Amino acid sequence: MMDADHQQRSGSAGYDAELRRHNEVLRRACGVQFRDHVLDIGCGTGQTTRQAARTAQAGSALGVDISAPAIECARQLARAEGLGNVTLERADAQVHRFPKERFDLAISRFGTMFFDDPDAAFANIRRTLRPAGRLVMMVWQAHERNEWDVAIHQSLEAAAGPMALPSKGPDPFSLADPLTVTQILQAAGFADVAFTDVCEPVYYGPDVASALDWVRGFTCTSNALKRLDPAAATRAVERLREALAAHTSDDGVWFDSRAWIVTARRH
Ligand SMILES: C[S@@+](CC[C@H](N)C(=O)[O-])C[C@H]1O[C@@H](n2cnc3c(N)ncnc32)[C@H](O)[C@@H]1O
Repeated sequence: MMDADHQQRSGSAGYDAELRRHNEVLRRACGVQFRDHVLDIGCGTGQTTRQAARTAQAGSALGVDISAPAIECARQLARAEGLGNVTLERADAQVHRFPKERFDLAISRFGTMFFDDPDAAFANIRRTLRPAGRLVMMVWQAHERNEWDVAIHQSLEAAAGPMALPSKGPDPFSLADPLTVTQILQAAGFADVAFTDVCEPVYYGPDVASALDWVRGFTCTSNALKRLDPAAATRAVERLREALAAHTSDDGVWFDSRAWIVTARRH
């Protein structure tokens, strides 16, 4: 997780840039149609919401996010583009009273992994889908399959020991296990749950300095650095810098990653 300011940060890559390769895969999987009404869950600053709205010209796109600054930023970007069929609302997708059977498609780019109660959240999302409406979401596979997260953990732990990383907090890998996710979605009233393996790298910036700035803004990194004494924090940042340098090529700083595209259909 990261705050809206960090998502849009101009000095570094930004989240849309980080996920440029993932975004294209997700866009194709969503297959938004001209008349679709689309709900974007945990839309952040709204790149995927705007993308859906551009295609659903005779339909609409609603982006919801629990973060007020993210929604404010998403509204500004949608206004700047002059999109008339986009709405952005601050809402907790777990419990928000969406209109019943309103949407043809619910999408999410890494915005569904942070629910306190996933069973209730997906049941709530299901209620707002039309019969046979689709869910298409991108979520991370397990930590150990994601080179970026392994490298961050190793750097912090090498400098400050295994306690460097807090054991509690938002878990970006909470929907990594297909069996668990299938059970959650089926219990929520979805059928035809399927997983597509997405193996695309994440982009952290054009050079080590901007990549370091970007990675330091991740919630897990900044929380870990705050917990360390100044000497250990300096060592951890130096380790991070080395890890980023080892992944730098002519076209910037890239790490391997593994995600799922999860698709399902409302009963
Ligand atoms: C990793 S970011 C992804 C943002 C966006 N989908 C994107 O790809 O740019 C996760 C987002 O989920 C939002 N989020 C977390 N829990 C939420 C909830 N219960 N309801 C709505 N949004 C939530 C966060 O505020 C954050 O913007």
